[in-house]
Amino acid sequence: MTILGIEFKYTDGGRTSMKILNFGSLNIDWVYNVDHFVRPGETLSALSVERFCGGKGLNQSVALSKAGASVFHAGGIGSDGEFLKEKLKESNVDVSFVKVFEVPTGNAFIQVDASGQNCIILFGGANQEITKEYAQEVINNFQENDILVLQNEISSINEIVTMAYEKGLQIVLNPSPMNGKIAELDLNKITYFMMNEIEGEAITGTDEPDKILDIMMEKYPHSKVVLTLGDKGVRYAEGEKRIAWGSYDVTAVDTTSAGDTFTGYFIAALAEEMEIKKALERASKAAALAVSVKGASNSIPLPEEVDNCRLILKNN
Ligand code: RIB
Repeated sequence: MTILGIEFKYTDGGRTSMKILNFGSLNIDWVYNVDHFVRPGETLSALSVERFCGGKGLNQSVALSKAGASVFHAGGIGSDGEFLKEKLKESNVDVSFVKVFEVPTGNAFIQVDASGQNCIILFGGANQEITKEYAQEVINNFQENDILVLQNEISSINEIVTMAYEKGLQIVLNPSPMNGKIAELDLNKITYFMMNEIEGEAITGTDEPDKILDIMMEKYPHSKVVLTLGDKGVRYAEGEKRIAWGSYDVTAVDTTSAGDTFTGYFIAALAEEMEIKKALERASKAAALAVSVKGASNSIPLPEEVDNCRLILKNN
């Protein structure tokens, strides 16, 4: 059965047996709360520092799982990153494909300013040890129409996309952080793009949301695009179809992982056969709740929090 372009397989009991693999980064996030972002030549005292479990990959796996999806995580850590694997386990994510390398775990140095905005310096560490051979071993365990979720914080993404496509997996790409590695990918192989305005502009050359979607649909007519616009809400494109949803009025404490929360909740909603508009609404609410809490994966809300929250919708 195909729903919104994603094919779902059913067991006798009527439950979905489609598998979701998230091949993604695991980072130790060091979050420094600052009055303003440090300027060139300035030495700035942080108001506080805290350590969190992060990485776009880990955050998205936690969000997928919290939202009710069954997810396998693959990726690399060093011996200093076992607690990240534990975090995934606690969140009911299958970690049997996570590999330990003899290098430090990836980490992120994150400044969060008084308005809740962040800026991030990444050190790839074990995330950059992903080889074609390891990826092939993992992908061998999946089959046609299973879903691969991918971001841009690990090595070998080009090879992973090629292998997954050859195997017939449906590929969800969050092209974040945007850099030259995305330009090397054959984006015709992507089933779903989950991107923000900056990533959309880098791929299409325009910063106008409607034009981003039109150009994406011209260039990649078989793909679907979810374009998140922060305060201005979110847009969805599939062929000629366009769907918009607004944003929610919340006080931003820390925007880290808002996008990851959105991605996890949106993909999980599709797997539940939710209609797109409802999926956008649910994912947007989850992301809004995530920005009102400090930290990355720990700020991802539970489904009951999302379903019971009373938030004011803007820009709809
Ligand atoms: O998307 C947020 C994530 O980006 C953080 O958790 C940090 O690790 C960086 O990868």
